[in-house]
Amino acid sequence: MTDLRTGVRDDFAEVFDREPDGVWSSPGRANLIGEHTDYNEGFVLPFAINRRTVAALGLREDRTIRVGSTFADELVEVDLDALSPDALQGWSAYPLGVAWALGEFGADLAAVPGFDLLLDSNVPVGAGLSSSAAIEGATLLALNDVWRLGLDRQTLARVGQRAENIAVGAPTGIMDQSASLLGQEDAAVFLDCRTLVSEVVPLGLEAAGLEILVMDTGVTHAHATGGYKERRASCEAGAAALGVESLRDVSVDDLPRAREILDDVTFRRVRHVVTENQRVLDTVRTLRERGPRAIGELLDASHVSMRDDFEISVPELDLAVETAQANGAIGARMTGGGFGGSAIALVPTDALSRVLVALDGAFAEHGFGQPDLFTVRASEGARRES
Ligand code: GLA
Repeated sequence: MTDLRTGVRDDFAEVFDREPDGVWSSPGRANLIGEHTDYNEGFVLPFAINRRTVAALGLREDRTIRVGSTFADELVEVDLDALSPDALQGWSAYPLGVAWALGEFGADLAAVPGFDLLLDSNVPVGAGLSSSAAIEGATLLALNDVWRLGLDRQTLARVGQRAENIAVGAPTGIMDQSASLLGQEDAAVFLDCRTLVSEVVPLGLEAAGLEILVMDTGVTHAHATGGYKERRASCEAGAAALGVESLRDVSVDDLPRAREILDDVTFRRVRHVVTENQRVLDTVRTLRERGPRAIGELLDASHVSMRDDFEISVPELDLAVETAQANGAIGARMTGGGFGGSAIALVPTDALSRVLVALDGAFAEHGFGQPDLFTVRASEGARRES
């Protein structure tokens, strides 16, 4: 982290030939449980991870914005007056998108100065760990400070989501930005996506002798296109057919009636969301009453539901989950939007090396590319670094 922080200051000075006003950072996230529930106004339980995006930012005296990053070989320059979601593309749509979206949430963009921004990150891209929310969070916190906007973190999360929905064009929910902005050390963020009320739920992983292993399959996904959008549309169609505002209003007890009304595919999409909401509530209760060693079955059931009912898993994710489970993990599931990306496993520290060896072997045996395997810790959300 120290390296990222000093590195971004040095890079900023080199690229812009000046010093930044400060450095801010925001983490990627993994979701413990509660998948595709956020845009259905349901419950999620993600946590911020110890991989972060850092943003060095310096205000300018004119109305020019310049953004650079260590992950793309270009410096993008726009005028504050020309910031429009339609004009943004590529990686810079994330930082520029949040600058635009702040205007939608009350910032007076006609009155603020331009800025130079440099981003660096060690959140893997395309792994389903929300590298995009990390960019949004770091940029938002920086702009909220230097433009003196005084927006709270819940609002900043909504600004990030708006940027992603409108400027990037991905119809995602509020989970990733909330985790990145609200995360706490060794804890998960229990968020009600209808009211946006959140609670910090201690995980106690170290005390329980547990690790969270990320198994990045290397299969890439993009939520601006394809399956994610389609799943969201099915959920909305299901809610409309059932006569409710969102699937949040459907409970497990309503499922027999839903089965009579809906076609098979829509019913299974609905069943995933409804049972997943219940699993989030059960996980929070179990963590509080019995600790993290007791949540394995809930994680496993969540994966089965995503694989069979929501149909967002891929063979590599299933193999990662099954191999971890068979070699000592307490529970495992794919995490994030699906169609690729990562799975997570809750693994006793003393079983970790066995799980790692088994995963390498299983992927080789199936002719799949080697997965990227690393443990993560639940970490603090966005913060000012210097
Ligand atoms: C992606 C989206 C989130 C959420 C998850 C699925 O990560 O960005 O809003 O919908 O997928 O739970």
